[in-house]
Order: sequence, then structure tokens, then C-alpha cells
Amino acid sequence: MRTQVGIIGAGPAGLLLAHLLHLRGIESVVLETRSREEIEATLRAGVLEQGTVDLLNESGVGERMRREGMRHEGVILRFGGRSHRIHLSELTGGRSITVYAQHEVIRDLVKARLDAGGRILFDVKDVSLLDLDTQLPKLRFHDREGAVPEIDCDYIAGCDGFHGVSRPSIPSRMRREYTRVYPFGWFGILVEAPPATEELIYAYHERGFALVSTRSPQIQRLYLQCNPNDEAGNWPDARIWEELHARLASGDGWRLTEGRIFQKGVIAMRSFVTESMRYGRLFLAGDAAHIVPPTGAKGLNLAVADVRVLAQALAGFYASGRTDLLEQYSDTALRRVWRAEHFSWWMTSMLHYFHDESPFHHRLQLSQLQYVASSRAAATMLAENYVGLPFEET
Ligand code: PHB
Repeated sequence: MRTQVGIIGAGPAGLLLAHLLHLRGIESVVLETRSREEIEATLRAGVLEQGTVDLLNESGVGERMRREGMRHEGVILRFGGRSHRIHLSELTGGRSITVYAQHEVIRDLVKARLDAGGRILFDVKDVSLLDLDTQLPKLRFHDREGAVPEIDCDYIAGCDGFHGVSRPSIPSRMRREYTRVYPFGWFGILVEAPPATEELIYAYHERGFALVSTRSPQIQRLYLQCNPNDEAGNWPDARIWEELHARLASGDGWRLTEGRIFQKGVIAMRSFVTESMRYGRLFLAGDAAHIVPPTGAKGLNLAVADVRVLAQALAGFYASGRTDLLEQYSDTALRRVWRAEHFSWWMTSMLHYFHDESPFHHRLQLSQLQYVASSRAAATMLAENYVGLPFEET
């Protein structure tokens, strides 16, 4: 088998890359170890930056998002029992976020690819990347029938997430990795209930952080800061509601709407970046190259930004043979990655309760929150990062 770009992973990065390449007449094959049903059911975050929304619309896969996504012009910071609204749109010249779940983006992209005759090979096993530092890199894998085909590629895109095979295929002496692990996790639940709030609520409380998000008019997504090694078994429903009510308490009469909890899970919190995002003819994109804690809602958006740059660079190569954009890919992508790393770390540090820290540290956090809530300059800093900075021109 032969293709122009071999793509490992049918997450948002891999699928969107395949779609953007297709629009420019470049062919690809996507390899995925899971089934279509599995990737379309995997629940992840749901906040799309303005630039992500624009790109999905411009590339023709935004139709359902425009109908079902919920546009938010603000977010709420809650601390000291009071709510403070950050008016995202007013502070950023009209930009906003759209709440539309990641697995819905995946479903739209899979459909667009398959409708256009695109090749996504599901349920493959034992993918390996060969000859990355030559002119003819290859992908080898076990297919559903147990055969072991090889695909000759011009280039390979590693979009297979943090635990994928792509990043470890780069010799360790060619990688520099930066990591931060946080002393807490998030306990996430899905609830059958109407929205408790029109906008997301990020709450700082001595009992720990809490977040109220949404999935649809019928389903709500809520999170609680928890022990990093916590398990769902430690969280009977009554304890979850007690904590949520306590952490989200506000003096303004607002009350959280309870409902049937039908999913529970613990999410680890980590910051991670690998440099370079390129080795020979392999390019890493999305979680394969970097992880952010979910507080800034940047994970999916960074994956989208990476493949936007990569698709442009590959298009330059196939249109005129130029390789400068491919050579600059890692530096270009990393500038946005590090901005998002800083923002996600900053949001995480400001909003979580660090049980090992001193009262001095907790007072600093409250001062920072107060500053963001009361200064237009500080609120603008939060807002422009949250809705997403404009893409760099290449
Ligand atoms: C979510 O809806 O899952 C969500 C929202 C905002 C975040 C993280 C996750 O910062």
C-alpha cells in the first residue's frame, strides 16, 4: 500500500488533518486501534475556541455544530461565595466559545471522511513506524483480518495521543520532555438534568475546585477536585452532591439542579510538552506531543491548531515542493503550545486548593482571583487566552 500522508490515530487531530489534506487534494490513510463505535463514544471535554469553530465551519464540517453547539459569551468565576462574570466577548472584540462535545466533533469528522471515500482503518493492532529518518517512511500494522500490511508514505503524522506509539518512536536522545504533575485530579460526572447555569462556573473553595459545565439541554457535566488516586467507588451520589453544593454555594440564591448521575470517572492532571514535534518525516500533533490540565479547556483546541499548521505545511510541499514550512512546523506549533501550557497551568494554580500549601499561598490565590474579577486588564488576559488567541499567519 502507498499513500502521501500516513496518519496514526483517529482522534480530533488525525481526523481533522485527514480532512484538511483531502480539501487540498492530498491523500492519507488513518490507522486507529479502536473501533468506530468506541471513538465516537469516548467522552472528553467540550469547549471550542473561536478559531476552532471558524476552522470547522470553513472546512465544511460545522453544520451540526452550528445547530447543536451552544455559544457562550462569558464564564463565571466563583469564590468567597460570590459569582464574578468574565464577559469574554466584550473583552475580546466579539469572540466567544462554543460548547460542543469532542465526541460530536469526532462523529462529524468520521462521517465527512467516509462520505468522501477517505480511508480510516479501525481496529488495527501493533502499529510500528519505520525508516522515519529516510525519504520513505513506512507504517506496519496488524489489520482486522490478521494480515500485516505496510504502507509506504511520504510523511507520517503521529496523532495517537499521550500513550501512543508515535512519540516513543523518536529516539530518546532526540527528544526533550517537560512535565508537571499536579497533586490532585478531577472527579467528573454526567447528570441527567436541565442546565443549572447558562455559562460555565469555575469555583475556588477550601474544600477544592468545582466546575459546572454542560453537554446538552438534558445532560450536564460537573467536576470536583479530588485525590489524584481517587476511585469512583469512594464517591457515592450523596457525597458528590454534598461536595458540589458546598463548593458551589453562592449568596445570590443560585442553586445547583440535581439529577440522575449516569457516569463517574477520575481524570489525571498533568502538563507535558515534548520538543521537537518533528523527527525526520514524522510530525507529532495533539496529545502525542503535549498535555494540558483541563482547567483551561485547551486540549482539543491545541490539537486543532497543530494540524492546521501541519496541513498548510504539507500543502506547501505538494503544491510547489517547498519544505520550509515543514521545517518550521515544530517551532510554529510550539509557540501556541507553550502559551496554552502557561494559561492552563495558571488557571489550574489559581483555582485549585493546594492542601500542602500554607495559608499565605491561599491568600495569594484569593488576591489573584479578586484581581481578575475586578481589573479589566487582568480579565482581558484571561478572556483572550480562554477564547483562543488568533492563529499565527504562515
Ligand atoms: C467540559 O465540559 O468537559 C469542560 C469544560 C471546561 C473545562 C474542562 C472541561 O475547562
